[in-house]
Amino acid sequence: MAQFELNVNGKTHELNVDPSTPILWVLRDHLKLVGTKYGCGIAQCGACTVHLNGVAVRSCQLPVSSVGNNQLTTIEGLSEKGDHPVQQAWLEHDVPQCGYCQSGQIMSASALLEANTNPSDEEIESAMNGNICRCGTYTRIKAAIKTAANS
Ligand code: FES
Ligand code: FES
Repeated sequence: MAQFELNVNGKTHELNVDPSTPILWVLRDHLKLVGTKYGCGIAQCGACTVHLNGVAVRSCQLPVSSVGNNQLTTIEGLSEKGDHPVQQAWLEHDVPQCGYCQSGQIMSASALLEANTNPSDEEIESAMNGNICRCGTYTRIKAAIKTAANS
């Protein structure tokens, strides 16, 4: 066990955990931020995507010891009232089906648009490639990203 100070969604949290603990489990089990989902645990599905200094990362493969003073953002911290342009576009296009993958999808999409305000189809496909949706909502995801880019 070791002591860590983590910046999550603009707040500082002190934790005493094993240094190898993936951030996914710190978020879900210790901080009760359960919007970030567990899918595969091996960086292959994207369900656990969060932002590290604004960049999309897979929290299932990110040990707590590697985060340091960097800023973590989860789906709960993306916007105060759930009204981030990507979230609004998701509602407009009625994107989710079962919903399980969707926080990861939204975190990847919002990181993409932060880095590239007007992505091409190919850039959207490339950025979203690692986010799997068992329900096959890919067409709506792409349309919503385009709407958010134009908002
Ligand atoms: S749970 Fe992290 S990528 Fe699947
Ligand atoms: S909405 Fe069901 S897995 Fe994506």
